[in-house]
Parts: sequence; C-alpha cells; structure tokens
Amino acid sequence: MPSFYSTSAPGLEDVAAKEIEELGGKITRLSRGRVYFEGDIGLVATLNYWGRTIERAVLLLKECKVEGLEEIYREVRELDFSIIKPHQSFAVRSKRVGFHDFTSIDIARVAGQAVIDSYLASKAVRLKVNLNEPDVIVRVELIDHTLLVGIDTTGDEGLHKRGYRVYQHPAPLNATIAASMIRLSAWRCHQVLVDPMCGSGTILVEAAMMARNVPPGKFRKDFAFTRIFGDELLEEVRYHQEKGCTPTLIGIERFEKHIRGARQILEFTGFDFIKLIRGDATRLDEYLELDRVDVLITNPPYGLRIGKKGIIHDLYSGFICSAYKVLRNGGRIVMITPEKELVRSLAENAGYSVEERPVSYGGIDAGIFILRKVYYRT
Ligand SMILES: C[S@@+](CC[C@H](N)C(=O)[O-])C[C@H]1O[C@@H](n2cnc3c(N)ncnc32)[C@H](O)[C@@H]1O
Repeated sequence: MPSFYSTSAPGLEDVAAKEIEELGGKITRLSRGRVYFEGDIGLVATLNYWGRTIERAVLLLKECKVEGLEEIYREVRELDFSIIKPHQSFAVRSKRVGFHDFTSIDIARVAGQAVIDSYLASKAVRLKVNLNEPDVIVRVELIDHTLLVGIDTTGDEGLHKRGYRVYQHPAPLNATIAASMIRLSAWRCHQVLVDPMCGSGTILVEAAMMARNVPPGKFRKDFAFTRIFGDELLEEVRYHQEKGCTPTLIGIERFEKHIRGARQILEFTGFDFIKLIRGDATRLDEYLELDRVDVLITNPPYGLRIGKKGIIHDLYSGFICSAYKVLRNGGRIVMITPEKELVRSLAENAGYSVEERPVSYGGIDAGIFILRKVYYRT
C-alpha cells in the first residue's frame, strides 16, 4: 500500500491525523509537523479536495538514513521516477533541518541531478527542469540524518490557499489552523459560533463549509496530483451533497474596511447567512444575548511590538470578561495567540477552566487555548 506524509502546523499533528483517518488513511506515526500514513492512490484526491486541517500531502518514495550529499545522490538515483511523464518538467523542492555542512540548495542540486540520471538510465529521456512552474514537484527533505523523498500531490501552494480570499486581510488566519481550531472546539452545527475579532472571516467561512459539507477544495484551481494521476481522480471525489444545516455564525470586527472585505468573501462563497457586526470585542454583551453563545473562536491581534503590550492587555482582558457574560455554562473560547501568560492569568481570574496546547504558527511560539466557562456550585 502506498505510503504518504502530510504536513500541518507543529502542535496540530493529532488533529490532522484524526481527520486523515476519517478520510480513509491508516496512520503509521506522527512527528513534528508531520503525519505518516498509508492508503490507496484514491486517497490523494480525497485528502487534497476534502482535507481541512492538512497543509499538503506527499507520496513517500523513500525514507532512509544518510550522512552527506553523495549518499543523498545515491539514494535518490536508485528511485524509479516513472510517475513523471517523459514530456513533463520537474523541480526539486528541498528542506533541511539540523546541522549540516551543506545547504538546502546543495540538496536540491544533487537530488535534481539524481532524478535526471535515474530517468535517463531507465527511459532514455532527459527530463526538463522548470523551477518556476514544474509539472511535478519532488520533495527532498533532510531532517538531521533522515532523508525523505516524495512526490508532492498538492503543489507549491499549500492547501490553506482555499481560493476564496477575494479580499486580502493584512493578517489572515491560515485556513487549516482555523479548521483545526473549529474541530478542537467541538462545535456542532446547531450551536451558536461567534468570532469576536473576525477580520476577513476565515473562521466563520471554514465553519460554514464544515456545516454545509462544502469541500474546502471547492474554490481551489490547482491540485498537483491531477498532473500526475489525471483529472479522473479529482472527478471521483468531487461529488458531494450539501447539507441543509444553516448554522448561526456571527462575526464582530472593529474596522469597517475588514467588514466590507469579509462581506465580499461571503458573497463569493455564497455564505450570506453569516451575520457581521461592526463592534468591539470588549463589549460583547452589547451585541449578543447573555448566556447564549456556545463557542467563541478567534485569533486576536498579538502584542509582539513592545509599544502594543498595554493595548493588548486591555483588549484581551475586556474580551475574556465580556465573553464570560455571553457564553452559556459549559461554553468555550478557543483562541490562538503567543500571549500565553497573559491569557492564562486573565482566564483563571475570570473563572474559566484553562486547557492549552503549544503550537508553532508561522515560526512563532504560540498556544491554542480552550477556555471553558464553568459555574461551580458551592
Ligand atoms: C489577526 S486579525 C484576525 C484575522 C482573521 N481571523 C482573518 O482570517 O481574516 C485580528 C482582527 O481583530 C480586529 N480587532 C482588533 N481589536 C478589536 C476589537 N476591540 N474588537 C473587534 N475587533 C478587533 C482587527 O481589526 C483584526 O481584523
């Protein structure tokens, strides 16, 4: 059975693994930012078109230990690349983690030569290299001494590029992380979900797609696997029946510009049932009924710049306190932020139970918090 690995934000591997399993993959192991699994070739289409929490899926050709560039050449040279058609171009995309006396560009160079030599020997054809728009991407990654060689079934653009961003927010949330946060919140379609700092509305759109059974790949134009396995594989998984469930989804945002942008996205996606309110996340009780909200999911601004610390403290404090008023008992906040100590202390003081998972987001050491409103009987 073919082997694969998928990538996702470090800290969310278990969420991706659960989804891959639901979509038909057999998980073999997890490592930092990666899930390894097995499945039939059809799984490639299912994951790329239906996977909400994974960034890319790679068909794994080889995993082995190597010491240096010469060995990388030998290991890649041994592989059969007949998956690439003689008229197609390819490019090696390389990555290196750990200490080595060569660079990832060196890896790409020797691995690229090995692909050409291997193909020339088996097919008597010299494959074309196209670094900008290759038909096929060969992924070669060296993690310490472990070499991974695979065929990228997704393409240069990760699956977080859903194709619905007709308005570009300056700090949008990665859609695969938004989908992971929704899964972690255990939100169900009949429950009220609010993003109180919604920006362009990524979390709300992802929730609407889940509730309506709309594939996350619906608006995406390109999937690398179609150039490898043909369009038929995509056609086989395209059919879907949209569900009748119309959830209560509400977005609150301080700036009119982003509200207008979010509206453009809702119009494009057809999710005009999502309600948008121009307002302040520190005064949620002015817009929402008390004790009614089931889930608040958000990625607030971060105070990474020193001068912003005070503003961030007041924003987080106001949000966490006013959220307590509108959440029903057992309701929860799911938020991603690097402001971990601040959230911990504010949430505990406000009376939430606090669950935290470390995640790396765009190289930032962040946390996804699940804060539960709990009434204690005395
Ligand atoms: C990191 S962005 C959210 C991006 C959004 N998740 C997306 O994908 O487009 C944070 C948003 O919070 C908004 N914001 C900041 N302070 C706010 C407040 N007091 N009330 C409501 N929104 C606020 C900002 O304008 C910004 O759009």
